[in-house]
Amino acid sequence: MCPVALVGQAVTAIQVPPTIEPMLLSDLEAVMGIERAVFPTPWSPRAFRYDLSMDEHSHYSVLRGWMQPMPPLLGYIGFWLWDEEAHIGTFAVHPRWQGRGIGKWIMLGAIRQAIKLRVELATLEVRVSNLKAQALYQKLGFETVGRRRHYYSDSGEDALLMTLHGLRRKDRRSELAIQRAAARQRLQEQLPAVATMSIPASLYDVSGE
Ligand SMILES: CC(C)(COP(=O)(O)OP(=O)(O)OC[C@H]1O[C@@H](n2cnc3c(N)ncnc32)[C@H](O)[C@@H]1OP(=O)(O)O)[C@@H](O)C(=O)NCCC(=O)NCCS
Repeated sequence: MCPVALVGQAVTAIQVPPTIEPMLLSDLEAVMGIERAVFPTPWSPRAFRYDLSMDEHSHYSVLRGWMQPMPPLLGYIGFWLWDEEAHIGTFAVHPRWQGRGIGKWIMLGAIRQAIKLRVELATLEVRVSNLKAQALYQKLGFETVGRRRHYYSDSGEDALLMTLHGLRRKDRRSELAIQRAAARQRLQEQLPAVATMSIPASLYDVSGE
């Protein structure tokens, strides 16, 4: 088709994968579906609602599904801004869509957002047994700087305190930009293949196997 045919029409390019977007109160049902499926002690909807509507220091974002058969919400992340620190309080990917690079994309999106807010470091706590999340954080440059004994009330498990420093430094920002480009490319290359497969309806389901 001649490109001239498009003159005068609104053409919107869809960026794939999309960037993370602010979480809305209307996202809560989908967020809670993931939250309950992946965490032994999920936060309450009330806790999310409070942060979304009352806490000016909180920054919650979601990644929306961008093609079939993705669910409308693939994952989310939230951090609180405390002076020069972004403390990541929650981070999860839909259980059926983990292990494909989506978590890394979401985390890099939140770090990018924190950098724009002139933050110097990102911090988080992670269960000592959560090796998968720790591997992700280490790949992004987080370091373990402490251990909080019996941090999790459900099991008494310890938490590792991990931090990513130097977010105002040019070299750190360049490293993260390279990671982001690689994460984007991976999602662009791998996920279209998923879309052409026959996917059971259970891919939308967060209730387990
Ligand atoms: C942690 C979590 C958000 C990661 O999201 P994800 O989409 O599965 O992660 P990605 O596919 O982007 O993986 C990023 C890295 O994590 C590590 N990783 C992912 N799956 C892994 C596995 N099964 N075993 C070990 N490491 C793994 C790898 O280092 C991977 O990097 P690579 O793909 O370059 O090898 C997701 O697993 C989740 O929601 N878990 C439950 C909730 C949770 O634990 N949240 C974090 C609380 S601190």
